[in-house]
Amino acid sequence: MKIDVIGLGYVGLVASACLAEKGHNVTGYDTNTEKLKSISKSDIPFYEPNLNELVRLTIQKQTLKLKKIENYGDLVADAIIIAVGTPLSKMGTLDISQLQVAIKWIISNYQNLPFIIIKSTVPPGTGEKLISQYQELTDKYISNPEFLREGQAIEDWKNPDRIISGSKSQKGYECIKEIYKNYTAPFVHSDITSSEMIKFASNAFLANKISFINEIANLCDKLGAYIDDVSKGIGLDPRIGPNYLIPGVGYGGSCFPKDVQSLNDLSMTHLQSFDLLQSIITTNQKQQLMPYFYLSEKFENLKGLKVCVLGLSFKAGTDDIRESSSINLINQLSNSEVVINTYDPVSIKNSKKILPDSVNFFDDPYDAINGVQATIIMTEWNEFQNLAWKKVYKSMENPKIIFDGKNFLNQKLIQDLGFEYFAVGRKIKSKK
Ligand SMILES: NC(=O)c1ccc[n+]([C@@H]2O[C@H](COP(=O)([O-])OP(=O)(O)OC[C@H]3O[C@@H](n4cnc5c(N)ncnc54)[C@H](O)[C@@H]3O)[C@@H](O)[C@H]2O)c1
Repeated sequence: MKIDVIGLGYVGLVASACLAEKGHNVTGYDTNTEKLKSISKSDIPFYEPNLNELVRLTIQKQTLKLKKIENYGDLVADAIIIAVGTPLSKMGTLDISQLQVAIKWIISNYQNLPFIIIKSTVPPGTGEKLISQYQELTDKYISNPEFLREGQAIEDWKNPDRIISGSKSQKGYECIKEIYKNYTAPFVHSDITSSEMIKFASNAFLANKISFINEIANLCDKLGAYIDDVSKGIGLDPRIGPNYLIPGVGYGGSCFPKDVQSLNDLSMTHLQSFDLLQSIITTNQKQQLMPYFYLSEKFENLKGLKVCVLGLSFKAGTDDIRESSSINLINQLSNSEVVINTYDPVSIKNSKKILPDSVNFFDDPYDAINGVQATIIMTEWNEFQNLAWKKVYKSMENPKIIFDGKNFLNQKLIQDLGFEYFAVGRKIKSKK
């Protein structure tokens, strides 16, 4: 098929390269000239494992081409995928202006309107509104939300656990089946608004699971229970399942925070009280700053305290720092005049653009830790698990606190070395 992709970010570029690898004839469009230049040199301007190589291969095979968005007027394609950003606006609603610009561009640049597949996450009801605005979209508009996770995006694209779509016409569904014809994942086809709701509800449910286990872990600390055992016990119930039951410093990223916030806003607009959503958000905001609350209780004054924050991205495997817990924590610590050293294997360049000048960035974790009184782990990069902890112990100053914001260190090893260890729900000493 001849497939055009609009928006070459984390989702659009992965989609382009993976579809091109399957033999589709793909052209990727973006407005950002610098980004297009780097991608064509296989120098992807963001970090996603194995993406550089796949883009290089598909460009070489000529199944992937790149073009700037401008007026062509005579374009032809079987389908167009839209994967532009839908960030949170200052009002707390999702800003769909990039999507609107893309749709207008499509309408005035294609000879015959192809199927338009919306991968961008939009609030339920958006597709119907756009169709009433542009009636030529009626039989062409297909909602096809994306569920890939940054850090394992290619793997997720190739092995989705379900393919969701929504359209008004049967032909729209046939188009989706054709694009994904070699995939074994189950298909769920619905009306457009239900398809959009599946994406929002999935993200809200996962965020709910995270905030829930975080509150249980906080309670474990008060009551002297051990969260690792509690999570294991809960997760063995097949109705609950073991995933998303590790507590920590909250969720971040470009999806959960904005999608939950936007669903909350949408329910308020429709006068449907959905108090649970607000609680998920409030719990998460508190959880992101847990290390700050911990240090504030421990020290009378945080001014001048020397701290190392390990990890800046919102999770391991990506350089995406949007709504990252680490960034929010660093800003909070900085307001209290804490001396902050930081290290991350891939996210320093992005973080330098938005963090205060007073933050000290290091290219080596040991240099960042040297001389600090507390080390806080905010991202679950494997290399943090495997640090030479004896060496770390020698290089830190008293009281040598390790705040394990991801509950992923070997607690016994850290405590046996003499560190003051704190995680979420692991207050009692581990014997394992
Ligand atoms: N990142 C994820 O993990 C993820 C997962 C699932 C769904 N989503 C959703 O997918 C969408 C894209 O997310 P992302 O993280 O890839 O965003 P992104 O910000 O990384 O990329 C968006 C791209 O669109 C380009 N763009 C903006 N307006 C354009 C226009 N009119 N024409 C052409 N290009 C344009 C931008 O230059 C940018 O390169 C969002 O709605 C997001 O919520 C993201």
